[in-house]
Amino acid sequence: MEIVPLGSAAEVAALAADVIEAVVRRNPAAVLGLATGSSPLPTYRELVARHRAGTGPSYELVTTVNLDEYVGLPAGHEQSYLATIRREVTDDLGIARERVHGPDAAPDRLADAGERYEALIASLGGVDVQLLGIGSDGHLAFNEPGSSLASATRIKTLTEQTRIDNARFFGSIEEVPRHVLTQGLGTILRARQLLLVATGVGKAGAVAAALEGPLSASCPASVLQLHPHATVLLDPDAASGLARADHYREVYLGKPAWQGL
Ligand code: GLP
Repeated sequence: MEIVPLGSAAEVAALAADVIEAVVRRNPAAVLGLATGSSPLPTYRELVARHRAGTGPSYELVTTVNLDEYVGLPAGHEQSYLATIRREVTDDLGIARERVHGPDAAPDRLADAGERYEALIASLGGVDVQLLGIGSDGHLAFNEPGSSLASATRIKTLTEQTRIDNARFFGSIEEVPRHVLTQGLGTILRARQLLLVATGVGKAGAVAAALEGPLSASCPASVLQLHPHATVLLDPDAASGLARADHYREVYLGKPAWQGL
């Protein structure tokens, strides 16, 4: 794991955008794994701003896959994760809608939705870089505590805490779906690079547990410890619970320029 404690949330967004752009420059037909929630939004704004300014790469050949999706929302609901990701980033990067994928939560096709999504990701050749946020309880995508570290895409039930956390996107907690489709932790581990961004003091406990605590299904994000190329970008608040933050900072500042992230 490469843990990078940075000076501000803006630095997190800028460096995350650098990582994603580097992947697309290396492979213009890259498969990007995208995440919803508030944490990646500044990164998306940065990518879009650079794209509009003409300094970013072309995304014409890029394909994207979402981490997860609510079950039970009417088709096209503005809070569905597919609609959210198009609105927040892919439309503005000029990625055609047929190249933007998420788990299919159509009610009559739920039984094999997980297998179909796994097959889709495999048919695309896998994910080159997967952007991730972290839930306040340590969840990754919608893999709540107790999720198998080897899990594949499947239906999960949200915890009360996650429904409370996500109620801000809906009118009330009653409107937040109880069920979701989510890439499993095993699915996420198959991405070639993981890029987790976390900002704010509300994430400090989950970040410390995931990065410095034991590998455990009780903290799903601890699965990052198993990945050969996991990059974690943190603002000072999100890094505030880490015991070895000074060391991570020293490692990052001493990195040779050619190494990249
Ligand atoms: C949701 C998403 C996760 C995200 C988490 C944290 O539950 N499914 O992918 O990481 O929320 O969201 P936020 O970044 O808004 O704190």
